[in-house]
Amino acid sequence: MSYLLSDRPIRRGLFLDTLKGAAPAHPPMWLMRQAGRYLPEYRAIRSTAASFLDFCYTPELAIEATLQPIHRFGFDAAILFSDILVVPDALGQGVRFAEGEGPRLEPLVLPEGAPFLYQRIDLDRLASVLETVRGVRAALPADKALIGFCGAPWTVATYMIAGRGTPDQKPARMFAYQHPEAFQRLIDLLVEASADYLIAQFEAGVDCVQIFDSWAGVLPRREFDRWCLQPARAIVEKVRAKIPGAPIIGFPRGASTALVDYAEQTRVDGVGIDTAVDLAAASAMLDRSVTVQGNLDPFVLITGGSALDRAIDSILEATAGRPHIFNLGHGILPETPIAHVEHLVQRVRGLK
Ligand code: CP3
Repeated sequence: MSYLLSDRPIRRGLFLDTLKGAAPAHPPMWLMRQAGRYLPEYRAIRSTAASFLDFCYTPELAIEATLQPIHRFGFDAAILFSDILVVPDALGQGVRFAEGEGPRLEPLVLPEGAPFLYQRIDLDRLASVLETVRGVRAALPADKALIGFCGAPWTVATYMIAGRGTPDQKPARMFAYQHPEAFQRLIDLLVEASADYLIAQFEAGVDCVQIFDSWAGVLPRREFDRWCLQPARAIVEKVRAKIPGAPIIGFPRGASTALVDYAEQTRVDGVGIDTAVDLAAASAMLDRSVTVQGNLDPFVLITGGSALDRAIDSILEATAGRPHIFNLGHGILPETPIAHVEHLVQRVRGLK
């Protein structure tokens, strides 16, 4: 059975089967931010690049970083090594990562908008990322999935407006209330850009994509619908118009009880569940046709021991018999011991 009704090679495996509704005895697994600083082999190659963005834009390095966690742990899916902020970069807003400080973006001129932003994403600027996709897909075993991704419009907009990461996303939240029409134009631009970028990733060889809405949880329900749910629905529609049946995971972190409407209305195949959600309750509320993904606390993975075992087992119990992809509830943290990840893999696979 082919999930992508195009002339691309047929691919399946535990991860894609589960995303399309299978419920195997041991769930497939991958970890958000699985390539990164907790891996010594990542730190070694990262130190050879002048900057984080240079690293992302160098296929040889990004291919290697994408494959590192697969080689070490044998996860069921690899996630493209890149960043959500390459989209503003390809829209003409300069992005740089100050070492040890996080992202810095050229400030937008508001509220008029941003004269320097392009009307459409310049995919030529992301040619190296698409080359990474082709390189990884060629090197990856056939039964392992390659996940592409983008940031959701709301989350990307929070960085574009603030020019950096903020603890509470105040600049974007205030801007959306004060200038809803200008903000809508920015979100619409990001919907188009994200859809074009995800389609290009599918055409280059990803098997599935995830839309990261890391800051969805700060919005009241009405704003969540307008700035998170509707844009995600539009992206899913646009991508599937080009790539019929495209497997898509949405991760509206912090969406809480709005998860159900999000899953139903966006028509994603899978929904990422964050750490704070009761997975048994979420599994009961969500239609069985939706695959749940998550939601181990990254901090219990650092802790290890019996706390980790209890947390793993309760996730497996909560999702027994329903389609579930094992993952964290948010990205893995740099101080995570490798031995705990090894243990996690064994336990999820029923080997410990
Ligand atoms: O393994 C993977 O998941 C692959 C790639 C990936 C990265 N970032 C690599 C990265 C993915 C999927 C992301 C997503 C991302 N980037 C999100 C959404 C997910 C989430 O964590 O909420 C967000 C909000 C960003 C933006 C971003 N990138 C910030 C705020 C930072 C700085 C903070 C930090 O962790 O350093 C980054 C940098 C970044 N992106 C790193 C990595 C491995 C660390 C930089 C380095 O190695 O020097």
